[in-house]
Amino acid sequence: MDIKAVILAAGKGTRMNSATTPKVLHEIMGKTLLGYVLDNVKNLASTQYVIVGHHAQEVENFVKSNYSSAKTVLQTPQLGTGHAVSMVAPELENYQGFVLILCGDTPLIKEETLKNFVEFHQSQNSDLTVMSTIFDNPKGYGRIIREDNNSLKCITEEKDATDSEKLIKEVNAGIYCLDWSKFKNAFSQLKTNNAQGEYYLTDIISWGKAQNLNVNAYILENSDEIYGINSRLNLAQAAKMMNKRNLEKYMTEGVTIVDPDSTWISEDTTIGQDTIIYPATYIEGKNTIGKNCKIGPCAHLRGGVEVLDNVKIGNFVEVKKSKICSNTNVGHLSYIGDSELGEKVNIGAGTITANYNPLTKIKSKTVLKDNVKIGSNSVLVAPVTLEEGANVGAGGIITKNIPAWALAITRSPLKILENWVKR
Ligand code: UD1
Ligand code: MG
Repeated sequence: MDIKAVILAAGKGTRMNSATTPKVLHEIMGKTLLGYVLDNVKNLASTQYVIVGHHAQEVENFVKSNYSSAKTVLQTPQLGTGHAVSMVAPELENYQGFVLILCGDTPLIKEETLKNFVEFHQSQNSDLTVMSTIFDNPKGYGRIIREDNNSLKCITEEKDATDSEKLIKEVNAGIYCLDWSKFKNAFSQLKTNNAQGEYYLTDIISWGKAQNLNVNAYILENSDEIYGINSRLNLAQAAKMMNKRNLEKYMTEGVTIVDPDSTWISEDTTIGQDTIIYPATYIEGKNTIGKNCKIGPCAHLRGGVEVLDNVKIGNFVEVKKSKICSNTNVGHLSYIGDSELGEKVNIGAGTITANYNPLTKIKSKTVLKDNVKIGSNSVLVAPVTLEEGANVGAGGIITKNIPAWALAITRSPLKILENWVKR
């Protein structure tokens, strides 16, 4: 069965209190909240419709430039979650298949969970399946109301719930799978007779039941996965949860993390066996790190970094968009950006690749072939290539390509004035 996804991302995100950034474009370890949701659904759904409204242009630009299979659909004004989904109806007029509905602000949901969810939907011959979970503190979420025989009855929002309904701990996760042809007429029939005066998506449950459709709930065991982000506090909490999950995965795969409490590694990083990550290291975005590497303490990998085996990236080294081949050392206090470092390269302490010209705003490449050695405190002004085995004396400012096995020295000769201090 074909699956199309609808991701709700038009809401205001008031509690983020941001003047510039829409909620779904806030980031965790170098990736936007919406990016996480799209990445987890893109292999499952043939098209992903992102409903945009608040800061629509920014969200649209993000989707367009990063996800070719995703489309944005504008919702103005934003009249509720049910109204949001109704915006895709014109796109899906003759569609026969499943629609998977998610929120753009729940970045912890896993692809595997969504797969299991859709499989459950299919195995139950369900027309509509709602994901639920159990929260000790369910405040703020819609409550799952069940019939006496335990089957799903309806969802009641916090603001509409009676005191006894508020005690219910099973909540609506905000993720739904439905058979589009059976539910496409539901959205135009939703009413706004509720505490918030909105078209509630949750009302499609009662609608489906009234049509004698097969409506079910799928209870998600790991409630962390549907943690939603409404505030900066939630953002920090979600980042912690995600990081913990990532580090556990890397450790299981044979990576040593010396201090999980101070180490951050994004989920889009792969790390080879027996690599050691030292404390206070921050690795964001997409990177690959080989086997037997030593990274940190206090290293910062900013994404687009490819590191082969037996590489050392030491204290206070920042690396972005660069390839570092095996047995190369970048030991201390360096910046490596837009660079290619061959095998057995040695980068002296305090070396900087000057990759950015602020006047032209152009970024250029630095290429260091195998066995290049850079003396401490050097600046490699890009674009520049150092051929195999070239050496740079300490304090070098390299503005021209250096031929193979040559030594480049740019410092003025050392003068020693005997007894100058005493005189
Ligand atoms: C919603 C559910 C609630 C559930 C919770 C899970 C409804 C009525 N309630 O509540 O049962 O427990 O999610 O997190 O659906 N959005 C739009 N357009 C709109 C309104 C919202 O795109 O007009 C988007 C928001 O950007 C957000 C998502 O829909 O990504 C959910 O909206 P939000 O207002 O956060 O719903 P909740 O009150 O959390
Ligand atoms: Mg709301």
